[in-house]
Amino acid sequence: MKAILQNNFGSVEELYLGEAPIPTISEDEVLVKVRATALNRADLLQRKGLYPPPPGESEIIGLEMSGEVSAIGAKVEEWEVGDQVFALLAGGGYAEYVKVHKRMLMKIPESMGFEEAAAVAEAFLTAWQAMVWLAGIQTGETILIHAGASGVGTAAIQIAKAKGAKVVVTASKGKHELCKNLGADHCIDYRAENFAEEILHFNKRGADVLIDFMGASYFENNIKALAMDGRMVMLGFLGGTKIESLDMGPVLFKRLKIMGSTLRARSLDYKARLTNDFVKHGLPLLATGVIKPVIDSVFDWRDVKQAQTYMEGNKNKGKVILRIGE
Ligand SMILES: NC(=O)c1ccc[n+]([C@@H]2O[C@H](COP(=O)([O-])OP(=O)(O)OC[C@H]3O[C@@H](n4cnc5c(N)ncnc54)[C@H](OP(=O)(O)O)[C@@H]3O)[C@@H](O)[C@H]2O)c1
Repeated sequence: MKAILQNNFGSVEELYLGEAPIPTISEDEVLVKVRATALNRADLLQRKGLYPPPPGESEIIGLEMSGEVSAIGAKVEEWEVGDQVFALLAGGGYAEYVKVHKRMLMKIPESMGFEEAAAVAEAFLTAWQAMVWLAGIQTGETILIHAGASGVGTAAIQIAKAKGAKVVVTASKGKHELCKNLGADHCIDYRAENFAEEILHFNKRGADVLIDFMGASYFENNIKALAMDGRMVMLGFLGGTKIESLDMGPVLFKRLKIMGSTLRARSLDYKARLTNDFVKHGLPLLATGVIKPVIDSVFDWRDVKQAQTYMEGNKNKGKVILRIGE
């Protein structure tokens, strides 16, 4: 099969369209002919050698895909050849074929095409896990979502609104309109405004839940922004991991819960249970258009270098899709 491969770790110039073996499926796995995949920040790190795949997983980049079932293992009864599916992957999405465990697949709703479906899994499962499973958001709570126009951010805004929460986001100014259209109640331009002060203007108690992707650069202000009994879920470190000095007093006095998580390295059972929960409670909202993936742009996979450079420049609002073809 054809796949996007790389010569060495490094810049986008290392990427090329090459040949790789078609994955061999086990009795519980399904072979999917990939029609579209979506970019994630982690792809850029993996390309640079900073985010290796978990042991035993494909070395090919790509954490999600949509496509058609092309073969099934001997113990697969839930899926048939020709079914249109999408899934979260531990790797291998930038390829013509990928193998997926039967419990990880989701059926594409009739209202959605392959490109839209490819934009769902990573953003919505990450946001679902963070807000529903970890933070336990409640109706009427205020949720502060950093990088509101990121793939995960756009999913988080919609899930929070669907749960009846109030949403405040940080994003560059040019991305505010998109966040408002998705339901954000207030947008903060983090370059011009102090988000901790702004959230206290919005709601005197601060954020009940905070979804963070920045880490060190925002940590102290995040602690200030959180309300009593606030919960913060840390999902990324775009602003680094080391803090030189910190007053951690408020963690105690405000009875804060600070959590971190990654999805990729979780066990199959955990990811399958998360997928199943999303299929039950999130997929109906997607199928009826209550929540929807936000697609910034669609690139042909031969233009993968341009697509990754575009994301690296923080230009995208929502997801960047790669159309996989002959
Ligand atoms: N832990 C997990 O399970 C998990 C899973 C998926 C993704 N993630 C993480 O979630 C984050 C978002 O991923 P994504 O694929 O949705 O990203 P994305 O669509 O590329 O969006 C990232 C956005 O973050 C903002 N940003 C970048 N650097 C920044 C900085 N230093 N300070 C403030 N804002 C910055 C930019 O928007 P502005 O122009 O508005 O600044 C950028 O567009 C990444 O950190 C990723 O690693 C974690």
